Amino acid sequence: MKYDIKKDTYKLYKKNTNFFINIGLQVTRNCNLHCIHCCEPERMLDLSLIKIKKVIDKLSDGGLKKICITGGEPFLRKDIVEICRYIHNKGMLATLSTNGFLLNKKKILEIKPYVDNIRFSLHGTEEIHNQIVKNKKGFEKVIGSIKMATDLGMPVSVVASIFNRNHQTMLDIAKICEEQKVEKLYFFSLISRGRAHPIYDKEYMPFKNIQTSFKKIINIAKKESWNLDMNLVDWSIEGQCVLVFPDGRLAGVPSFQDKDNTNIIGNILKESPSNLWNKYLFKDNYINYYKNH
Ligand SMILES: C[S@@+](CC[C@H](N)C(=O)[O-])C[C@H]1O[C@@H](n2cnc3c(N)ncnc32)[C@H](O)[C@@H]1O
Ligand code: SF4
Repeated sequence: MKYDIKKDTYKLYKKNTNFFINIGLQVTRNCNLHCIHCCEPERMLDLSLIKIKKVIDKLSDGGLKKICITGGEPFLRKDIVEICRYIHNKGMLATLSTNGFLLNKKKILEIKPYVDNIRFSLHGTEEIHNQIVKNKKGFEKVIGSIKMATDLGMPVSVVASIFNRNHQTMLDIAKICEEQKVEKLYFFSLISRGRAHPIYDKEYMPFKNIQTSFKKIINIAKKESWNLDMNLVDWSIEGQCVLVFPDGRLAGVPSFQDKDNTNIIGNILKESPSNLWNKYLFKDNYINYYKNH
């Protein structure tokens, strides 16, 4: 299966409409950073490699074709290359989501045969990005890692989570991505979960304001014939994202009736994949998301 970063995942789903399309597999909740908006701050014990492989087996048996390896920070796991290799050998497409802080050429070359796309987080210009990730070297590190990955021929995407603090830097982020030969940029609105919950009122930016800025950027990109593919994701729509937590629990987010806006569906290590899909409350929103992204 050849991965085209600019094409939607929905095509994969049409071949198997009885299961999830794409799942975020949290291989750890540990992290080297402490971002102000992080929706996944609660620490949990990591699954052993054997158990992670069991989770991947079950997801693959259910018919999953695409996984986003995420966290926490996936590069904190010493066995991350083996996890990527195992997913690849199951015939699934893999995106690896990272803050970019811990990467070097050796690590990129090790995962390159098994990962179809590395997704970095970049939340603004240097000053603003560093404020958000609470680290003076955050921007320098992520830009260095993006450069390294594109130079090594790795397809690269970027996520920018947008709220009051960094809304004014959306165009700067897009320009950096275009300059750095990033293929796809996602602007996310803020999800009120984890550490974002207490700052949500202060940092909330109405989605229509983000959308207005996004449209202006799209027009500039058209006029200047950019190569960058840009997407805007409204996280006020329930159940668009399905995650496997480090303890095997499968959850749909956001879910506004539930604690921490998180709908726990069941545990993939204890239940059949089809049971979990049947119980999923937000199928329409979830499928629509992948039709459009
Ligand atoms: C949870 S992180 C895990 C991977 C890695 N540690 C990273 O930061 O890229 C995945 C993505 O979710 C985004 N994110 C985290 N909390 C968020 C929130 N409350 N609202 C919107 N996006 C959020 C991050 O900015 C990051 O791009
Ligand atoms: S957003 Fe990513 S890098 Fe930032 S604290 Fe959360 S898991 Fe870590």
